[in-house]
Formats: sequence, C-alpha cells, structure tokens
Amino acid sequence: MSALTVTYALFFYVAAAALLAGVGWRCWVYARTPQPLKIPIPPAPTTRGGVALRMLLEVTLFRALFRSNKWIWLFGWTFHVALLAVLLRHLRYFTEPVWAWVGLVQPFGVYAAFAMLAGLAGLWARRVLVDRVRYITSPSDHLMLALLAAIAASGLAMKYLAHTDIVALKAFFLGLMAFDWQPLPADPVLLAHLALVATLMIVFPASKLLHAPGVFFSPSFNQVDDAREHRHAAGWSAQIVRGR
Ligand code: HEM
Repeated sequence: MSALTVTYALFFYVAAAALLAGVGWRCWVYARTPQPLKIPIPPAPTTRGGVALRMLLEVTLFRALFRSNKWIWLFGWTFHVALLAVLLRHLRYFTEPVWAWVGLVQPFGVYAAFAMLAGLAGLWARRVLVDRVRYITSPSDHLMLALLAAIAASGLAMKYLAHTDIVALKAFFLGLMAFDWQPLPADPVLLAHLALVATLMIVFPASKLLHAPGVFFSPSFNQVDDAREHRHAAGWSAQIVRGR
C-alpha cells in the first residue's frame, strides 16, 4: 500500500469524523439554545403545518432572500441548486450498484458545475465591488468562496483536461467505507480536488457554511406566530417559574 493511499485514507477518515462530530455537536448546541422571545419574521404562519411549509419554501426557493435582494438571490440560489446537482452526480462514486436516478442526474451535473462557478463568481464579485458588503467581509468569507471555487475548478479540470481513473477512484472510496483499503490513483488534479474537499469537510463545522443546518434552528423562521393565543415560555424561564 503506497504512502499516498495511506495518507489520503487517513485524511478522509479524520475529515469525515470532524464533519460528523462537528456538525452534530453544533446542532446539539443550537437545539438547546433557549428562544426567550417570540420573533417570527412577519407575515408568519399561525400553525405548525404552516411553519413546515414556510421552512420548505425557505430551503428550496430561498424566499426571504428573494424578497430582500434579487441579485443575491439569483447568484445564491443558482450556486446552491447547482451544488446539489453536482453532489447528487457524485453519488455514483460511493454506491455499487449505482441507483437508477443517480444515472439520470449525470448529464445535468456537468452543466451544474459551470452554474456553480457562475453563482460563486457573482457572490464573490459582490463582496469585492459593493462598498457596504466589502466593509463587513472578513477573510473567512473569501476563504470559503475560494475553497468552493477551487473544488469546482479542479473537478472541471478532471472532466475536461486531466482525466483520472474513475474506476480505481471508486474502488478507493468503496474500500474506505468497507475498511478494505484500495490504491488511490496518483493524478495531481485528483489529489488536489480530494485535498480541497477534505479541507472543506474539516473547516465546515467551524465556518459560516453552518447556515445550512442552522436555518432549521432559526427562531425567526421556525416559530409559530401564536403569541396572542398562548403565553410563550422559554425553556429556562419555565424552569424558573416551576422552581419558585
Ligand atoms: C470525496 C469526495 C469527492 C470525490 C471522490 C470527487 C471526485 C470527482 C471526480 C472524479 C470528478 C471528475 C468527474 C469526471 O471526470 O466525470 C469530479 C468532478 C467535480 N467535482 Fe468532485 N469529488 C468529490 C467531492 C466534491 C465536492 C464536495 C464538490 C463540491 C463542493 C465537488 C465538485 C466537483 C465539480 C463541480 C466537478 C465537475 C463536474 C462533474 O464532473 O460533476 N466534488 N469530482
């Protein structure tokens, strides 16, 4: 077994553990954070079913962003939908036999890579060109955009410029999941793509990308607007009342 294979195998185990444990821990903290006030953004639903529908529209269409800024919505939504298509296309590297619907996604995944880069370019341009946004932009905002753009660019480079041995790559990842390591192809672009992906997995739980699971815990979206019907007691305040 080559040193390269061992290094990447360990890198991916560490990255997967960091991603799962980090996101799990963050969600646990979010779930236990008290919501002391009723603060749903109006117009807000008055039933749990309405909240579920609101959340669905939020995560599929980015409705609140659409209402607030059409340009950011266009670039942001394009990027996220394209990312989803790309990730679904990638499922073929991790499943055997490949599910039929993953086969159907394949042609769209390639166009999605370009759409993903276009979306990222628009979001990045805004951080550089719009004064007010540049003022509140931190280095980590640039880092996340750079990381995602570099992953997409190296992926496209593999597709069109420097092909890799996809069969061997798939054997490597299926082997990783079965704890039966197989050799990893030593193509530089593939190694760059994978190192960037593993880096993204490691930084994810410490980054702004946590907004993905975080939106479900946002009180302004997940609360029912029923403050006039029921007294709202946050978890900790209910305990204080009981303890008195
Ligand atoms: C361990 C995980 C991953 C592996 C094994 C992997 C592997 C690959 C391979 C082999 C290609 C070339 C496909 C071809 O020649 O047909 C590719 C392309 C690509 N990858 Fe990845 N990748 C991974 C994760 C990711 C992630 C997380 C992203 C996005 C954040 C991403 C974005 C892309 C893009 C945009 C392309 C070009 C379009 C395409 O062929 O789908 N990859 N990837």
